[in-house]
Amino acid sequence: MDATLVLFKPDGITKSLTGNILTELSEARLEIAACKCVRVSKELAEEHYKSLKNESFYNELIKYIMGEYHKKKVLAFVYWGDDALRKVRELAGATNPEEAEADSIRGKYGRITTRGIFENVIHASSDAKEAEREIKLWFEPDEIIFDIYPTKEDEATVKKRAWA
Ligand code: PPS
Repeated sequence: MDATLVLFKPDGITKSLTGNILTELSEARLEIAACKCVRVSKELAEEHYKSLKNESFYNELIKYIMGEYHKKKVLAFVYWGDDALRKVRELAGATNPEEAEADSIRGKYGRITTRGIFENVIHASSDAKEAEREIKLWFEPDEIIFDIYPTKEDEATVKKRAWA
């Protein structure tokens, strides 16, 4: 069993593809262990893509995931189950939407912009190590319906917003 982080990116949300992508992913018969809407901060975007910091497309990639070109919204999921990493990557298709199989999610709905950015609709973790790093970055332990990774008690009191 493994877990993978899946992001429905701002282009997918703006094009109203949420339902289509969920249906495509349901073919993998995996369990959704967590999901939420996220307004992506610069800090989160930069941490998520930190290994790509030296790439020519890095700044555009950060703007894209933050929703500068679409709705400022990402849907984040943890998919869990047998061979989840491989199954989701297969349904997603190749990272470059022009190279993705025509019937994959990216092949059907992705494009490359005139600025050379892959608007490839979804992100899926590349391997188990990356999945753990990404899931721990995007989700708190209590946002996931079961403990995928070990947790510890944290007595720290943080100031947070509450309903008025
Ligand atoms: S992958 O799929 O994670 O293995 O790909 P990787 O090469 O590690 O990450 C590349 C991410 O950068 C996004 N991106 C581009 N890659 C290459 N060339 C261009 N022009 C480009 N523009 C954007 C690509 O979509 C990968 O992000 P994710 O979120 O994984 O799709």
